[in-house]
Amino acid sequence: LQNYTVEAGGRLQGELRVPGDKSISHRSIILGSLALGQTHISGFLEGEDSLHTMAAFVQMGVDIERKGEGIVVINGKGLRSLTAPDGDIYLGNSGTAMRLMAGVLAGQAFDSQVSGDSSLNSRPMRRVVAPLQEMGAVIDCADQHRPPLSIRGGNLRGMSYTPSVASAQIKSCLLLAGLFAEGVTTINEVGVTRDHTERMLRAFGLNVDVAGASVSIRGGAELQATRIDIPSDISSAAFFMVGASIAEGSDITLQQVGVNPTRTGIIDILKLMGADIVVSNEREMGGEPVADIRVRATQLKGIDVPVEIVPRAIDEFPVLFIAAACAQGETRVRGAEELRVKESDRIQAMVDGLVELGIDAVATADGAIIQGGSMLGGRVDSHGDHRIAMAFAIAGLCSQQAINISDCANVNTSFPGFVSLSANAGLGVSETS
Ligand code: S3P
Repeated sequence: LQNYTVEAGGRLQGELRVPGDKSISHRSIILGSLALGQTHISGFLEGEDSLHTMAAFVQMGVDIERKGEGIVVINGKGLRSLTAPDGDIYLGNSGTAMRLMAGVLAGQAFDSQVSGDSSLNSRPMRRVVAPLQEMGAVIDCADQHRPPLSIRGGNLRGMSYTPSVASAQIKSCLLLAGLFAEGVTTINEVGVTRDHTERMLRAFGLNVDVAGASVSIRGGAELQATRIDIPSDISSAAFFMVGASIAEGSDITLQQVGVNPTRTGIIDILKLMGADIVVSNEREMGGEPVADIRVRATQLKGIDVPVEIVPRAIDEFPVLFIAAACAQGETRVRGAEELRVKESDRIQAMVDGLVELGIDAVATADGAIIQGGSMLGGRVDSHGDHRIAMAFAIAGLCSQQAINISDCANVNTSFPGFVSLSANAGLGVSETS
């Protein structure tokens, strides 16, 4: 088991380039594997989650080569080219891999079984299993619709479906199943979610119709291989945005960060809290907007986080809770019940940790109420959740004494090199076993 020790204080400085976007990395492997021809990917996140997606397609006969840091070349043979895997497909900690993969596997003429680690095996899958069954797949799950999933794919029928939660994973799962389905598949979204799948399907030459909150594709068309340049992950950059905001004297520039408007809720929320964030050099990279983000320290203030921004910042709440703890006044988060079914129960894990560090924080069913205050240091449990571990590492910057964080190995799922990158920027973090 890997633990972190974080010294109190410090400030962040310099120009930083965080690793590639996790969501886009998964999708580049999936679409490249289903396309016709050679897809060239750069900026690929070599984290455990996206590597599990890659391994799954290799297991299904796709020719994928890693050519160097972040460079991946896929020799795709088209929509119908996957072969039965030689055994179970193991997806580690990755909910995105499992939910997106379920859509692909539902469209195959072979049977498959997918499972994950203990965290993934306890996450809800009914949200994708039920609609895939409606499209014609036969899927068995463990108790309460948990993984492992046994999937008997086959002849899928397109349909119009309205998920009960705002989730890019559900939408993407059904769009991927829709590639193999007869007729049109439409997803009617109940809230704005990341649109990387839609953008990338278009980059691979497919027609994706967007009408208001509905997204549709017609099945059967081949994807044409392309070049995908993956920007840095705004969800990884978020740790440094908060870190630089709360640590006096900080001034950092995060380079080439993906600023897709469905992902920039963290910037909007921090600005509402009074943060000094300047987004510049906006440009486009492979169908996705990117920019450089400069953050300088300021005194943050507590806010009521607007509920409509929540889905656009869903992965950033662990570190936003740290921002709230270091802000002046009270911060309230509502409408974020999805946090309870992420890699850990992120509401409980964060509130427990904050209380441990001396902060007045209370969990609610769908969020938390956090009083800004002084953080005393102490011991916290990350529950094996990468974003909880990194959030508490950042908390060291406004803590009065050291923070020890347990069970941090899963930081490698999304942010390999976190410790050295953040130590170079000025965080007093080190690994202990
Ligand atoms: C993701 C969607 C989000 C997010 C996850 C990645 C994606 O999950 O939390 O980290 O890549 O589609 P939900 O779709 O469950 O909100």
